[in-house]
Amino acid sequence: MSDLASYVGNADAFPVLRHWDFFNHAGVAPIPRAAADAMRKFAAEAEAGAYLGTTWYADLEKLRATAARLINASADEVALVKNTSEGIATVAAGIDWHPGDRIVTTAVEYPANIYPWMDVARRFGAELIHVPEVGDAEGCRRVPLDAILAAADHPRTRLVTLSHVEYASGQRHDLARIGRFCRENDKLLCVDAIQTVGVLPVDVRAMHVDYLAADGHKWMLGPEGAGIFYCRRELIDRTRPAIVGWMNVVDAEDYGHYDFTYKSNARKFEPGSHNVAGFMGLKAALELLSSVGVDAIAGRVKELTDHLVARLADNGYRVVSPRGEGQWSGGVSFVSPTHDHANIVRTLRREHHTEIALREKRLRASPHFYNTIEQIDRLIEHLPRH
Ligand SMILES: Cc1ncc(COP(=O)(O)O)c(C=O)c1O
Repeated sequence: MSDLASYVGNADAFPVLRHWDFFNHAGVAPIPRAAADAMRKFAAEAEAGAYLGTTWYADLEKLRATAARLINASADEVALVKNTSEGIATVAAGIDWHPGDRIVTTAVEYPANIYPWMDVARRFGAELIHVPEVGDAEGCRRVPLDAILAAADHPRTRLVTLSHVEYASGQRHDLARIGRFCRENDKLLCVDAIQTVGVLPVDVRAMHVDYLAADGHKWMLGPEGAGIFYCRRELIDRTRPAIVGWMNVVDAEDYGHYDFTYKSNARKFEPGSHNVAGFMGLKAALELLSSVGVDAIAGRVKELTDHLVARLADNGYRVVSPRGEGQWSGGVSFVSPTHDHANIVRTLRREHHTEIALREKRLRASPHFYNTIEQIDRLIEHLPRH
């Protein structure tokens, strides 16, 4: 284990610290030096002799194992995919749908977890149920657990699909409860985990997750376009790959011998050559995160976001993100009662080298573990007063 403190504010390990107060890890994260070095090494090798003398393909398997450990899966349940969308599309395309099947999701999902299901609804006559977000007396916004369970509790519901953390509110769902309900009632659970893997504990076994997808470009600190897809071992046989190519099959490298028998592990969902450059970057990033430990990272992000939430409230901003036990996340969404949000984001970026995001009319700041309290204080100083 590396010492978390050695990375905090360390601009050699996180060069972004030299240029920006960067708080958009829930958007696209800057990669650490280690990930950039791994991709530079790949580029030098590719230029010198392609795969010759490299460990690329063994490294892909190491990445698979590291990613699996991060979510408490086994390596044969993890596929290396292009992005979250490809993982979710694999589930949508992989199940035998029937007219009248119900798919339960929320009304506030990122569209990566909406359009694949709209497509299923349109093509097979399935019904897509969107459970709405509601506000509480303090102005926090959340999709209530009870409402999700009530929607799931219908004889025609086959699948519940939601983000572990919602992108625009930062709400973390109680996956363990939802997963237990689904398992006990014979429903499938699919999770878009791009807003949690790398920063908050994810345990597909304890949470009874059936399918999970996440690209690496947010909290995992990898480049865009290199992600992971988990399929519970018992479901691999029953789930058809979305794309069939030369690599999904058992004897993939026996090129001239056509044996159309799918692999029995999650590599069944990998149709062709990998984005090796991107995965080398992701591998280095996940090794860094694993060496620090996700529990320590989550604790640090809690400390940073608690500080941010307290200072925002002191300065007249309304925090929309639920912050209770088990509901908080690395994304803090907030609103100004008077100032123009787009203008705030623009001014921060142009005049203060500070990056936050604007999502669904809310400002969102999402620090990672290596950010400092001083950076959060600077952000507060640069925000307009009320
Ligand atoms: C919840 C969520 N899912 C998915 C994505 C991105 O999907 P993909 O990895 O397919 O680009 C985002 C990016 O903003 C997101 O916030």
